[in-house]
Formats: sequence, structure tokens, C-alpha cells
Amino acid sequence: MAIFYDQTNKLFHLKTSKISYYLLINEIGMLQHVYFGKSLDEMHIDSLLDLGEDWSRYYLDAKTKEEKTYQNVYVNHSLFEIPSFGYSDKRVSSIKLESKCDNKTDFRYVSHKIYQGKPSILNQPTFRNNFSDATTVEFTLKDITKDIYLLLAYTIYENDCIVLRNTKLINNSEDSVYLTKASSVVLDIPRKDLLLTHFPGDWCHERQIREDLLSEGCKRISSNTGRSSHEHNPFFFLSDKTTTENDGDVYGFSLVYSGSFMADFEVNKWGQTRVSIGINDEEFKFEIKPTATFDFPEGLIAYSANGFGDLSRELHDIIRKNLIKIPSMEIKEEILLNSWEGCYFDFDTDKMLSYIKKAKTMGVELFVLDDGWFVNRDDDTSGLGDWYVNEKKIDLKKVIDLCHELKMRFGLWIEPEMINQKSKLYTNHPEYAVGNPNVDRYLSRHQMPLDLCNKQAVDDVYKMIANILDNYEIDYVKWDHNRTIDFGHSQCLENRQGEFYHRMVLGYYDLAKRLTENYPNILFHGCASGGGRFDLASLYYFPEIWTSDETDPIQRLFIQYGTSYMYPLITMGAHVSKNPMTSYLTKAHIALFGTYGFEFDPNKLKENEIEELMKVNDIFHKYHQEVISEGDLYRLYSPFKSNYFSMCSVSKDKCTALVLFMNMIKETRQYRFLKLAGLADEKLYRNDYDNQVYSGKYYKEIGINLTRWLDEFTSILVVLEEV
Ligand code: DGJ
Repeated sequence: MAIFYDQTNKLFHLKTSKISYYLLINEIGMLQHVYFGKSLDEMHIDSLLDLGEDWSRYYLDAKTKEEKTYQNVYVNHSLFEIPSFGYSDKRVSSIKLESKCDNKTDFRYVSHKIYQGKPSILNQPTFRNNFSDATTVEFTLKDITKDIYLLLAYTIYENDCIVLRNTKLINNSEDSVYLTKASSVVLDIPRKDLLLTHFPGDWCHERQIREDLLSEGCKRISSNTGRSSHEHNPFFFLSDKTTTENDGDVYGFSLVYSGSFMADFEVNKWGQTRVSIGINDEEFKFEIKPTATFDFPEGLIAYSANGFGDLSRELHDIIRKNLIKIPSMEIKEEILLNSWEGCYFDFDTDKMLSYIKKAKTMGVELFVLDDGWFVNRDDDTSGLGDWYVNEKKIDLKKVIDLCHELKMRFGLWIEPEMINQKSKLYTNHPEYAVGNPNVDRYLSRHQMPLDLCNKQAVDDVYKMIANILDNYEIDYVKWDHNRTIDFGHSQCLENRQGEFYHRMVLGYYDLAKRLTENYPNILFHGCASGGGRFDLASLYYFPEIWTSDETDPIQRLFIQYGTSYMYPLITMGAHVSKNPMTSYLTKAHIALFGTYGFEFDPNKLKENEIEELMKVNDIFHKYHQEVISEGDLYRLYSPFKSNYFSMCSVSKDKCTALVLFMNMIKETRQYRFLKLAGLADEKLYRNDYDNQVYSGKYYKEIGINLTRWLDEFTSILVVLEEV
């Protein structure tokens, strides 16, 4: 058992080989946070909880009417797991609940149980419960004035550095209550001066790296557009100012959620930092009827004492091991050609047949037909919602047959969560579109979100898409989502519009669950105008996601670098496009550090360009799975902090590594060495750059000699193999 309970002190120790998390039930029955950090057996509660003064420890006992002093409970600045709201704790709140009389909450301990495994949540994605080394402590808490209960579960895995938090609210009262704030994670950290590393962005500019030093006051990062968003991603790190890639304390936070989220940070006058992350509360008001329950999205916190690089590798491992589900490594490790950047909507059967034939000669193993194959879809003004093949435009069977004849697989694009006004679906069911029909609606890319709060709409779209998947041999589906969700209004929610955004997310999960579970052999690839929904919940359904619509390979370096802080390379959709910014060789090197694939008109490539790709194809087949998809990533140079980009991925057995180096500006021949990381000190490796053999230690301490003229935007890829 990795969770220990010390009954005398009512102290819980959640312990793995890497971390310890301590919490206790205090004298008034609140869950109080004690410690989160390095694995530690020694804990001196009295010293840790003593905050040095008395005046915030007095209570007037409601029953006896006597004054009491609680030793270790400072109502407004102790560290809490579920802080109260509306009483004396004035820091940023975690749960707000409107009832007939107020919106106060204060949950106190009722009971707990410790068990193997983790709680199962049925209607939302979570880290999977398939681990024999998972242990959970689950608390039952009750509000002090209402018959409202919380089941609060903490799960740890024996050899990992994360704590997962799951919360279920149960309404045992006789009236409806309205949840208006639902934080999945609250962490009170007893210090200030933490550096927040977060990942803001935009379309074609996702997950840039920003650092802000948190000081007194509040800060929020969030998305309020119905998806995890381009603008911010629901993960961030808090660290010491001095933490580096390889050293120092760092905490990671994330939400397993694809919708609007918020993360609040507050530093108070006592030098404490509170972090709270959950569903965005801006337009959130969810009715919980008597006997009904509400599941919060799963929250994750992680810790490493060994810098950002180590924490990223830990997170990559747990995501690969316990979140993503890959139908088969065979299809996952195939070279793909997607039609979009090659021809957009402008294709017919002959053009696609010519793409496939040419692609075959370039080593392509999976051909994906992107947007434009269904009825009424020759541009982006119409068709979404009518998931029937446009037989006048494309003979889909013929296209698939050719793929199979050439021993290639076939994939198809869909965008099931959207509807165009110009579609049969809208004509028959105008109520399936999001928005109030009596008010002008804002279109984006001429489309409206499908109302996923409406079960019938979800069922209808499911049936149309299942019909395609049943009637054509499809191995891969690209699932797109091309507009933000705003104008939140569902015609089936009547006076419960505050539930709209969260119900849209639940509708997305429902559709994704049904399609992925009923078609388990299909590889689903997520996408949202590029990387607008790159999050842990989407990864639960789609083991890879299109990282960005940006085709400029240099810009992609920044995007891929930022994305790698949380998400493993195996999940990052990355293609070589026609963008002329660099050579095909360099574009392919960059795509290699993702899923690898092509997105251009194959007939337009020159012979020498194809040759460049073929070289990288060979490397892909030889090393990609073991080194990139399943290996350990070491970031060597950040393009955000230097003129270089460099990453090294090392196979788990440390026998092979791939190193990508890229300089952003032209540099003359200067004395310069590229130091590597992640190799085994004592092993000897031959590198194919100067063809020399050095030890892992030498590569780490001295590195590869790059004293030469460096042209801008020209990559160097080095393969290292143990000799
Ligand atoms: C946006 C995606 O990000 C692109 O890759 C492409 O699939 C288009 N949508 C198609 O409309």
C-alpha cells in the first residue's frame, strides 16, 4: 500500500518512489494540506503547521456557545485541500454552490477509504484505471450547512511523480443546487516567488513559452471559447526562479478537460501561493437536482526536483503508459500523405488517384483524404452536417481500392461537431445549430457549432459517420473542429443555459467515445484548426493531435518545443509541407520529431526533393518508433532563449539516439560544441556526423564539434548508435 494513515495525527501520506503528498484532517474536520514534494518519510506536523500567531485561531462554538482555540487551524491562511468559500478564507475560491440562501461552501470530513486502483468516472476521460500499482484515498466530505457531499479522491502510481484528483459532488438535499465554480485541483504552496511557465498562443502559433514571476495579487490564465484553445493550454509549471532544464524544483499542473478552463494564482500577504484549476466559471452554472451528482474533470499535479526536462519525461511516460490508446503500432508508425495542403477542396477522383500513385513511389503507406469529399462541400461555405460521399466528385471506393492494391491504408477527414446553414441537416433541423435563433448569430468559417447538448443531434451525426465507416474500409480518421464556441445557447436547455459549455464538452466526449470504442481498429487523429484542442482529454480518444496549421517549419520548431513540455512526441502530428522556408530535408528532420508525414501535392516535387525525403524515410523506418515515439526526450537548446533549437531523443535502452540541431541565424565558423544528454555515460556511441566513437560521458561533457559555418534554417540531424 502506498498510502499510509497515521490515526493519531489523522495524517495521510501518499508516497511513491518519487514524491510524497501529505494531508491531514484538522481539528475542525477540514482537509489541510501539509506537503507536496520529494519523497519524504520524516514529517513534524507541529512545526509545519505552526503559522506563528493566535488571532485567527479562535472560534465561537455554535453548540456550546463557548470560545475555542484550535491549535493548527488558521481560518484564513492555513493550507487547505478544499478551501471553504464565503467564510473566513478570502483567498481564491475552489467550489461555489448556489442554494436557496447563499453560495457558501465548507466541506468537512465524514469518512475515508484507501483502495487499490482509481475511481472510475463514466462520462469523462481520465487517466486509465488499468494500473496494478495505482492506490487511491477517497474522502467523503459534507458541507457544514447543506446536505451536499463531496467524494474527493487522490490517486498515485507507485513509481510516478503525479497525484490525480477526482471530485464528485452529490446533492442529498431536497432542492436543486447550482454549481458555479468547480476547481479540480487546489494546491496551497507555502511560499512565494514562484515562476509560472505557461503556454499561450494563437492559431498557427500554439503553445509558446512564457515565464511570469508570481507576486502579490491574482493572476488567471484561461480559455473561454469552449475548447482548451489555441490561446492557452490547460497545463503550466511552477518552479523556482533558478530551476533549469536539468535541475531544480518544478511542479506541473494540468486538467483532463477539452473545454473552457481557468487557472487562478494568488500570492497573499503571508507569502503563500494558492493555485486553483478547473472548469472556467465565467458562464458556468450547473443545476444539480436532488440525488443527482456532478463529476469534476480530473486534475493532475506533478513534481520533480530535477528540472523541467525530467518533469516532461515523467509526464510523457505516464501519458504514453496510462492515457493514450493506440490501435496498433503498425499503423501509427506509417508514413502518411494528407491531401489538404496539396489541393484543399480542389480535387476529383483522378487527381486523388494520381496523388496515391505518386505517393507510393515516395514511400507513403497511408493516404488521407482531407476536407471536401462529402456532399455540398466544394468550399468552406456549405456541407458540414451532411456526412454522405459526394459521388459526383469522388469515387471513394475506387480511391480506397487503389490504396489497398498498392498496399497502402486509407484515412478520411471529418468535422462532426459542426454544421453549415447550407446543409440538409440544418434545413431539416435548424435547432441542431448552437445559438439563439431569435438573435443574429456569429458565423466563423461560415459554420456554427452543432448543439452537442442535444442528444438527438449527436445520435444523428453518429449514425451518418458510422454509416461511412461501415461501408468503406477506413483505417484512419482525422477529426477536425474549426471554430470556437461562443454565443452559448442551446435550444434544448431552456432556462439552464449556464450548463451549455460543459454539456457541449460532454457531448463531444460522448461522440468520441462511441466512435472510438465502436471502431477500435481505426487510428483517430485529433485536430482543431490546427492545435486548438491539444489536451489530455482529447488525447484519451485520439492518440495523436495535429500540432498546428502552421506550415512554416521554423515556426513549427517553436510550437513543437513548447508542446513538448507536457505532451510526448508520439502525440504531435507533424508533416512536411510545401512551405519554401527551408529545404525538404530540413522540413523532414523537423517532422521526424513528431508523427512524421507529408502534406503537399506529390506530383509537384522535384527529383532532388524526393531524394531528400527518401533519406529521412529510411531514418524514420529504422529509428522513429524506438527512439522518437517510445524514447526519452532531452531538450538541449531552447529557440525561445537562444538562436538555436536542439533536441535529442534517446531509446529507452539508451542504445540509440537522434539529435536535431538547427540554427536560426547565419553564423560564421565559431568554436562551438553541442553537448548531448540522456546517453549512458559508460556506453560508446558512433555518431554519423563526424563518424567518430565517443562515450556517453564525452558527449555530455564535451559534445559534438560543430565548429563550422552554419547557414540559417539548415538542420543537422545526427544519429548515434552504440558500438
Ligand atoms: C483545419 C485543419 O487544421 C487543416 O489541417 C485542414 O484539415 C482543414 N481544417 C480542413 O478544412
